[in-house]
Amino acid sequence: MNQDDTKYFTSANRLAWEEVAPIHRGHNQDRLIKAFGTPGFSCLDEIETAQLKALGVAGKDVAQVCCNNGRELLSVKNLGAARCVGFDGAQAFLDQGKELASVANLDVEFVCSDAYEIDAAYRNSFDIVTITIGVLSWMPDINGFFEVTSGLVKPGGAIFIYEQHPILEMVKPAGPDEPIFWELSYFHDEPYVETGGLDYYGGESYDAKPVTSFCHKLSDIFMAAIGSSLRIEDFAEYPHHISNAWYNVEKSDIGLPMCYTLVLRKSV
Ligand SMILES: C[S@@+](CC[C@H](N)C(=O)[O-])C[C@H]1O[C@@H](n2cnc3c(N)ncnc32)[C@H](O)[C@@H]1O
Repeated sequence: MNQDDTKYFTSANRLAWEEVAPIHRGHNQDRLIKAFGTPGFSCLDEIETAQLKALGVAGKDVAQVCCNNGRELLSVKNLGAARCVGFDGAQAFLDQGKELASVANLDVEFVCSDAYEIDAAYRNSFDIVTITIGVLSWMPDINGFFEVTSGLVKPGGAIFIYEQHPILEMVKPAGPDEPIFWELSYFHDEPYVETGGLDYYGGESYDAKPVTSFCHKLSDIFMAAIGSSLRIEDFAEYPHHISNAWYNVEKSDIGLPMCYTLVLRKSV
């Protein structure tokens, strides 16, 4: 995909993220303010916590690309990370993150930027870059995305990914008691437009701006990483659910992988 098309999709999606931010705030912010009032609070699950600790997160400079309201990055800071910088395209979510950082009394920098346009001043600045839960499918150009994120990592540093498994894109997201409806081929490679809004916390319907997402197969993700001078250091697939979408798959005994962790290492 060329840069103009990429910009077209990310700009349109950004408006939809800004639009839903106050709705998410209504569902989450009071609870998070209370949680981050407790020193050392972390919203990270055992798998992510263990992987970050194995990467030696304490004392490391960490960036999160597409950090949303910052709850995960603030948790990383509470694991002892040094400099923490969160990038996201939606200022309204970053404002929520700043409020949480203030409550938690944590020094975390939030930068509003399209992932493809992160300022060159941040190149080679981070020991660990994290990408988690619902990011890669918003990237129109997966190769370009890995080029940018690899550029943020210091030589010898790592990218840590904890994402929903792309095989889930085949299934229409639904509640736990709804049937599984196979919607897309795993090899679907056209932009996927939705108009139902982004309130995946409360399911509130509103007059939503359309959003466009993109199916990237695991092979696309691996090859994009390898093409950006990253080495696959660790990869694991898991049966548990980390998104806010496929409750029907989670409840079924169909046995699909639901998420994965991937550690990518940049050469020294
Ligand atoms: C599903 S959220 C995931 C965030 C986080 N892992 C979480 O669970 O809160 C996706 C985030 O990516 C951001 N985003 C999507 N496309 C982006 C882009 N091209 N550049 C920067 N941010 C983007 C959105 O604003 C949103 O905050």
